[in-house]
Amino acid sequence: MEVVCDLESIREGLKPSDWASRPLSVWRYRELLPIGRRIEPISLGEGGTSLHPCPRLGGMAGIRRLMVKNEGENPTGSFKDRGMTVGITKALELGKGWVACASTGNTSASLAAYAARAGMRCTVLVPKGGVAYGKMAQAIAHGAEIVEVEGNFDRALGLVIELAAKTPELYLMNSVNPYRLEGQKTLALEVFDQLGGRAPDCVVVPVGNAGNISAIWKGFRELEALGLLKPPLPRMIGIQAEGAAPIAKAFKSGSSSIDPIERPATVATAIRIGKPASWKKALRAVRESGGLMEEVSDEEILSAQRALASKEGIFAEPASASSIAGLMKLRESGEISGDEVVVCVVTGHGLKDPDVVVKSFKGPMGFQEFLSSMMAMGAGARSTQRSPSRA
Ligand SMILES: Cc1ncc(COP(=O)(O)O)c(C=O)c1O
Repeated sequence: MEVVCDLESIREGLKPSDWASRPLSVWRYRELLPIGRRIEPISLGEGGTSLHPCPRLGGMAGIRRLMVKNEGENPTGSFKDRGMTVGITKALELGKGWVACASTGNTSASLAAYAARAGMRCTVLVPKGGVAYGKMAQAIAHGAEIVEVEGNFDRALGLVIELAAKTPELYLMNSVNPYRLEGQKTLALEVFDQLGGRAPDCVVVPVGNAGNISAIWKGFRELEALGLLKPPLPRMIGIQAEGAAPIAKAFKSGSSSIDPIERPATVATAIRIGKPASWKKALRAVRESGGLMEEVSDEEILSAQRALASKEGIFAEPASASSIAGLMKLRESGEISGDEVVVCVVTGHGLKDPDVVVKSFKGPMGFQEFLSSMMAMGAGARSTQRSPSRA
């Protein structure tokens, strides 16, 4: 399902100065969100995330104008909050008191927080052993009922859809709920505003269940339909992890449907999805925009995660760093040129999955070992060596 906005009547009533007078956030674009005027949004201050120029990372990739839209700055640390503020507000408008989702972690963290904010009951179905530590801690802290499912995310999603169909009082909050995607489309509107009323040449997005890339494309299309954005629209570039890349494989083979992957496998747990629910919308977004899909290995993802954190100070979880890994690969193959204005969407904060980073660390050095290494390096060593005796 998809929300179709009456853009003609919105266009008549909309003055772009209305947006400029409001803070950069999801609710700045209220006219484009399917929520009645009299409803007070359930909000934790979502959206309004930074669009960081990344010259050092851009230098590594050979791109002059690379920017990162850091969705890790959202209240629960991922882009899911954009959708959840709208989805939960819609649930309230519809008189619902119980919400549920299946999740690889970020959706459950976000839903649990917004349900708590709205005073609703929240149930989350998670794949056993498949959710990163930080995300689980969030769902626990916000008081969600946590149900572990034997199997992967795809099975958990199947079960919660079945449950929702049989339980009218339970409101399904996965991205198959089109209201959530309306919140997520605001990323495109913010990028347009942050670039001074323009779009970049391409937007690179990590893809799992495929709702987000579809939502962002919808945002750009609506800006065009409102007469605010002139073509060309950006190319939408979706990145999947090699062991969980049914859409990328379908795109590359020119197929009009996907072959689901029974046992998806990748270190990027947030996009470990073999049967993406929104694959049709994602393929449409990529093809309509003249974009493409690519897949990246776990090694490429982890190396991109390190580069983003160490060169630009932005700590992203592995799934989020896949957009950077994809950019590097596509720059190398020439699919993205060095002159393009590129926005990479970094979808979630690195602290959600610290284990991955700590595991790859060979351990801190002892102080004596540190002093010896400083001495071996010469000048820096002399000043450091004096400090212990001064102390
Ligand atoms: C951090 C992160 N990045 C990317 C994705 C993929 O988004 P989508 O499922 O909308 O494709 C997810 C989904 O859970 C996520 O948590």
